[in-house]
Amino acid sequence: MTDETEITLTVNGTEHTVEVEPRRLLVHTIREDLDLTGTHIGCDTGNCGACTVLKDGEPIKSCLMFAAQADGAEILTVEGMEDLPAADDLHPLQEGFREEHGLQCGYCTPGMLIAGKALLDENPDPEEGEIRDAISGNLCRCTGYQNIVRSIEYAADELDARAAADGGTVAADGGADASAGSADAPAGDADTFCGLEDCCGGPEGESFDDQFDRDYLGGDGE
Ligand code: FES
Ligand code: FES
Repeated sequence: MTDETEITLTVNGTEHTVEVEPRRLLVHTIREDLDLTGTHIGCDTGNCGACTVLKDGEPIKSCLMFAAQADGAEILTVEGMEDLPAADDLHPLQEGFREEHGLQCGYCTPGMLIAGKALLDENPDPEEGEIRDAISGNLCRCTGYQNIVRSIEYAADELDARAAADGGTVAADGGADASAGSADAPAGDADTFCGLEDCCGGPEGESFDDQFDRDYLGGDGE
């Protein structure tokens, strides 16, 4: 029998105390002990970046750290992004990935969003090369890098616009002005579920926003 150790993690602003084996990886604690499955596992060996989270504000690959090593840390996962600053708002990065089509299968997206956030927290007005450098540890198997870069540029512009509207006080943790951008269905026929003319109608009782949020951006669709 392996000894377990008690650790405390503050994840997306909520403190959790969990018992973990010394060998347990942080990504497994996040996904399985805390049930925050927005953080993905692509390789388990530090290559893909799908498991990227912020630990005390720094991006880390959570498959490369034991949970016990993160004892006492503040962790931000993709599920925590949309709550900044208001629960109903998408983070400008999430908005950017939707507006600029920054995802295809979406598997890399949580890690890309967190890597993008880490960049914009440090550098609110990055050059294209700086964005590419910031996401260089995150692989997209769908090879949608061009749109991912555009998505992060969109977020930088959006954050800048919100800061200007708010007298320069809004940082990369979100925006105070929820009027900029929209969480509505994409441009097209507003009467259909997804905006496409031949839309299937979508799942019963679920809006496009709910499904998009839940499936791709790490939210719970509520
Ligand atoms: S799962 Fe951690 S880098 Fe791939
Ligand atoms: S969108 Fe498919 S792996 Fe990046």
